[in-house]
Amino acid sequence: MSTTPTTSTSTTKLFGNSEIEAFARGKSDDYDTPAYALEPMIKHIPKHVKVIWEPCAGNFAIVNVLRKHGYTVITSDIKTGQDMFSWQPDEQWDMILTNPPYSLKNEVIEWCYEFEKPFLLLMPLVMLETAKRSKLYKIYGLNLFVVPQRIQFLRDKCNARNASWFGSHLYTEPEKKTTLQFVTVNTRRDVNVKVTGISLQCLESR
Ligand SMILES: C[S@@+](CC[C@H](N)C(=O)[O-])C[C@H]1O[C@@H](n2cnc3c(N)ncnc32)[C@H](O)[C@@H]1O
Repeated sequence: MSTTPTTSTSTTKLFGNSEIEAFARGKSDDYDTPAYALEPMIKHIPKHVKVIWEPCAGNFAIVNVLRKHGYTVITSDIKTGQDMFSWQPDEQWDMILTNPPYSLKNEVIEWCYEFEKPFLLLMPLVMLETAKRSKLYKIYGLNLFVVPQRIQFLRDKCNARNASWFGSHLYTEPEKKTTLQFVTVNTRRDVNVKVTGISLQCLESR
């Protein structure tokens, strides 16, 4: 059964509020996702998903790709007055899919797990680190898609920086498992080139 997530109050309990404060100081991480980075992930969206919520929609880079593939997309963004930690759509939705602000990555990850619905986040591999985040992965599992190439995320249509990224695609039902797949993207065309998969175990040292 899905639960209504609490707001950033519970998030700050687990992760502290330093990154929220960083955003308040103006680190908005405002980069657009190129379409080719998302295209290989479309086939991994669960079959039952019809309505997707993009809670950090920005300039609609992700929204446009999803709509092209026939999904109904609910959009929101702090720039249009909807803080993802306190605002929720009135409509029913099946999945969250976004490239969130990296300065809030801890908060966003915990917030997504709390809904107990599938989500896909495009984030750098650094999100695998930290004991706090690994606690969540051990509880819920983590389906991890690693792109071995550099993806160029764009700011104001300029090449702002290169960044590696990954998508974590979580299924809370029917089984909580952890998997790793390598996904090659075609930086010239919006097609998936190759996907290979291996299974992983979550290891815990004492
Ligand atoms: C890295 S950009 C990604 C934009 C879009 N998702 C994409 O992939 O092209 C992050 C976006 O998150 C938005 N954002 C930052 N903090 C937010 C918050 N608390 N709630 C909702 N949106 C937020 C920013 O305004 C920005 O548009």
